[in-house]
Amino acid sequence: MTVDHDLLGRTAVVTGASSGIGRAVAQRLGEAGATVYLHGRTRGPMEATSLAIEAAGGHAHIATFDVRDSASLRDLFSQAATDTGRLDIVVNNAGLATREPVLAGDDETWRALFEVNVIALLVGTQAAVQQMRRLGNGGHIVNVSSTSALESDGGVYGATKNAVNHLTRVLRTELEDEDIRVATVAPGPVATNIVRNWDLQTVKGVVAFSGLDVDVRPGERLPDEVLDAAQAALERLIAKPSDIAEAVHYIVRQPLRLNIADLVIRPAKQLTF
Ligand SMILES: NC(=O)c1ccc[n+]([C@@H]2O[C@H](COP(=O)([O-])OP(=O)(O)OC[C@H]3O[C@@H](n4cnc5c(N)ncnc54)[C@H](OP(=O)(O)O)[C@@H]3O)[C@@H](O)[C@H]2O)c1
Repeated sequence: MTVDHDLLGRTAVVTGASSGIGRAVAQRLGEAGATVYLHGRTRGPMEATSLAIEAAGGHAHIATFDVRDSASLRDLFSQAATDTGRLDIVVNNAGLATREPVLAGDDETWRALFEVNVIALLVGTQAAVQQMRRLGNGGHIVNVSSTSALESDGGVYGATKNAVNHLTRVLRTELEDEDIRVATVAPGPVATNIVRNWDLQTVKGVVAFSGLDVDVRPGERLPDEVLDAAQAALERLIAKPSDIAEAVHYIVRQPLRLNIADLVIRPAKQLTF
């Protein structure tokens, strides 16, 4: 397949690019010719994605740190902008999800959900806008939300994604007289490691559909083959990470006079638990 290099010369930063949606987004932007700064905690998958990006004609750099480390996050945007002289695309994607009822939760988990899903997005966005203003070329910021923001069983995770939706609307207005556009992408269920902190029974149920025999351990990532096979078995219920990457690519190739404000991408059928 030949891919248009429609992002040649652009610089992109993608947080949470070591897995799932962020990894697919980084790969898609890199295949389109962008220089991509991949951020995550797990280096191995980012190295594999970097090789794929370089092979497709893009460039890739890797940064490994906890997204709650605000100083390192600010440095990432400053490094991308200084090294390349541009900062065109920012995808605030790193995220954490739990599914327990609100009244069964604890404050340590609630704090982690808000720190990763909301505070890091704010820090990253502020740092990105400072660099975009300094460079003067404008840019696109895409915040990864979730359909859980709209659902009554979304728990505290849904509350963090409501915060993402609200902040995106506020930032869009704050930046509307500049060449910086802000959008949300809200996926429904996607076959990724977001399930790593869900209850074990639900995750085992998803894994069973893959037909592969793997141990499921709380908090641990699943092998890519399991996620791919489960998605293939449940394709009308669970989307692929690359489906969301296509939506992000669509948003960031628009001219800066336009704002694709909010895109919801759901599989054909509603998943119920
Ligand atoms: N999958 C879905 O069904 C779905 C639906 C709607 C929205 N979303 C949203 O999509 C985004 C991406 O999630 P995903 O589905 O691709 O899940 P994923 O496979 O678990 O990927 C999450 C990414 O975020 C990174 N991350 C999480 N906590 C971090 C921290 N404290 N510091 C640094 N990096 C951290 C992970 O890094 P490591 O793996 O290296 O730790 C990983 O790269 C999230 O914002 C999520 O809320 C997902």
